[in-house]
Amino acid sequence: MTDTVHVLNGPNLNLLGTREPEVYGRATLADVEAACRTACERHGLGLVFRQSNHEGELVTWLQEARGSLGVVLNAAAYTHTSIALADAIKAVGLNVVEVHLSNVFAREAFRHHSYISPVARAVICGLGIDGYRLAIDALAASRVN
Ligand code: DQA
Repeated sequence: MTDTVHVLNGPNLNLLGTREPEVYGRATLADVEAACRTACERHGLGLVFRQSNHEGELVTWLQEARGSLGVVLNAAAYTHTSIALADAIKAVGLNVVEVHLSNVFAREAFRHHSYISPVARAVICGLGIDGYRLAIDALAASRVN
């Protein structure tokens, strides 16, 4: 368990590759998963990779990540709305790195506020799918062995 990373993706990220490519790039969610798997394998970590369009399912998956090394969370639009996701992170005491493909601070004002950031260990945004790999590298570096 403590040597597993959960990568959780929120709504509309299943459409990566065709969704606003000028904002999110051409990589698909399968490409993101492959990059995460390579990064985890390099660190000898297990990977649970999931995507949901449903807030409650993401809450359940955050709860299931209890006891893991940490969570890479791209909550997508729920980042800007979800007290439930923030509460789940606090309730379970998760080591979360919040990731966004785009630089949310260079976009609309409603994207500048995150309910996740105050309960996250770190935030990475604007680096595309590299952000996921960097988040996994950071979680691996935080491992105490
Ligand atoms: C996103 C940024 C969010 O504002 C947006 O709602 C998304 C994707 C990103 O990865 O850049 O769906 O989290």
